Amino acid sequence: MNNKLIAPSLLAADFANLQRDIELVNNSEADWFHIDIMDGMFVPNISFGMPVLEAITKHTTKVNDVHLMIENPDRYIKTFADLGADHLTVHYEACTHLHRTLQAIKAEGMKAGVALNPHTPISLLEDIITDIDIVLIMSVNPGFGGQSFIENTYRKVSTLKEMILTKNASTLIEIDGGVSSVNAKKLVDAGADVLVAGSFVFKSDNPIDTIKELKNLTNFEL
Ligand code: DX5
Ligand code: ZN
Repeated sequence: MNNKLIAPSLLAADFANLQRDIELVNNSEADWFHIDIMDGMFVPNISFGMPVLEAITKHTTKVNDVHLMIENPDRYIKTFADLGADHLTVHYEACTHLHRTLQAIKAEGMKAGVALNPHTPISLLEDIITDIDIVLIMSVNPGFGGQSFIENTYRKVSTLKEMILTKNASTLIEIDGGVSSVNAKKLVDAGADVLVAGSFVFKSDNPIDTIKELKNLTNFEL
């Protein structure tokens, strides 16, 4: 049995009932909470900031996987660690000194992730892949939930998987955007380890069952 992970994205939760939706994920087969922070500069949207994150992590009982869609993320690495982030993912496109940023994230005791926009090639990670705990491949343009999955993602996943094997790295491959039962199995077959799902989970009639469905689709006897 392989162990593929499911990370519901709280961006699609009901913000007026956040605690209810967090408990729902706590009581599900989900593995991580995916938490999206946007600054209205790196992406044309603002999600929520530090006080809300602090309120969220008080209730979560699973890994807090924080995805920063912000410019100059170095400013807040320690802050996010203090607020309960277990993983901190920064965008490749937002970091001039990516190697330094990753070391700073790890120095705060967090796993370090790098996110790639749909137009950013996997090959740019070749000289840093062994320093990255998680690569987050964006399968939509970051900034909004509920967008359509970009098909070129499968090719990027296979290319990254090959790079990880060649370099003998232990990096996890996470996919974010437009994930559903339509593409989950194919993504895992291409080499994905973690699937983020926002709308597909929270806009469904029974989110707990939907998480279970994703878990079953991606975890099967080899
Ligand atoms: C988009 C965010 C995603 C988003 C995914 O910028 O990074 O995590 O919540 O939402 P869905 O699954 O609805 O595409
Ligand atoms: Zn995200």
